Amino acid sequence: MRAQIAFNRSVSAPYRHLGIAAPGFPESFAPGQFVMVRPPLVTDPLLPRAFSIYRISQDGGTPVVEILYKILGKGTQCLSRMEPGREVEILGPLGNSFAIGSEVTTAVLAAGGIGVPPISALAAQIRNSQFAIRDLEVFLGGKTADDILCLKDFEAHGVSVHITTEDGSLGSRGLVTDLLGPFLLGSRLSALIIFTCGPPGMLSAVARLAETCGVPCQTSVEANMACGFGACMGCAIEARSSGPGPAYKLVCKDGPVFDSRELVWR
Ligand code: FES
Repeated sequence: MRAQIAFNRSVSAPYRHLGIAAPGFPESFAPGQFVMVRPPLVTDPLLPRAFSIYRISQDGGTPVVEILYKILGKGTQCLSRMEPGREVEILGPLGNSFAIGSEVTTAVLAAGGIGVPPISALAAQIRNSQFAIRDLEVFLGGKTADDILCLKDFEAHGVSVHITTEDGSLGSRGLVTDLLGPFLLGSRLSALIIFTCGPPGMLSAVARLAETCGVPCQTSVEANMACGFGACMGCAIEARSSGPGPAYKLVCKDGPVFDSRELVWR
């Protein structure tokens, strides 16, 4: 659907906050879902691109789809230069979402970089809904303090946040799993679940830790996407196979959220 950029502003050095005013877009979404965005009628290097939904606000009755993105290459550099009022096409909400069972009483959220916005949305959903979850713990990690996003959102929801950065510029120096591992060792694990979203190295480390501890883990995976709905097969990732050959899943259609035990982690 046709939409317009409402705002496109800097958050920290490589990260920006984009709002897309999209009349007719659903007013709600489930944390983990994403949108495909591209300029209309353009052979631009920019898009289509998939972005996790951070939140949906309202502007005079028009839904504004909010996204946090990182400037990584040519496409996101182009996007960073797009001014308010510029027309784009947006498709969504797409994909599945994090699923919270009624038996879960402790939710552990682990994220970094552009994986933080969907985890922030999940924290908001947990705080605002009638889940049985009593304890909510958030672990954020990144290379530097710039990768630690949405801190004010977590504070607003009264969620305790454990922070690590590789250069020690915020929180303790190290990796998310350096704090998450000891936390799990000291926790009652039977009603605990981990939700995670972030760079591949973080997802792999968290998935392995969860498996070692015997804790369920849902992970939201990033992939390059051309269509967003299962048509191009460009977002296939390796899944655990029960047969002799390899198995694959489509991130856009089967995910982006998977039980970490479904996937192959390298
Ligand atoms: Fe086309 Fe997933 S993005 S099949």
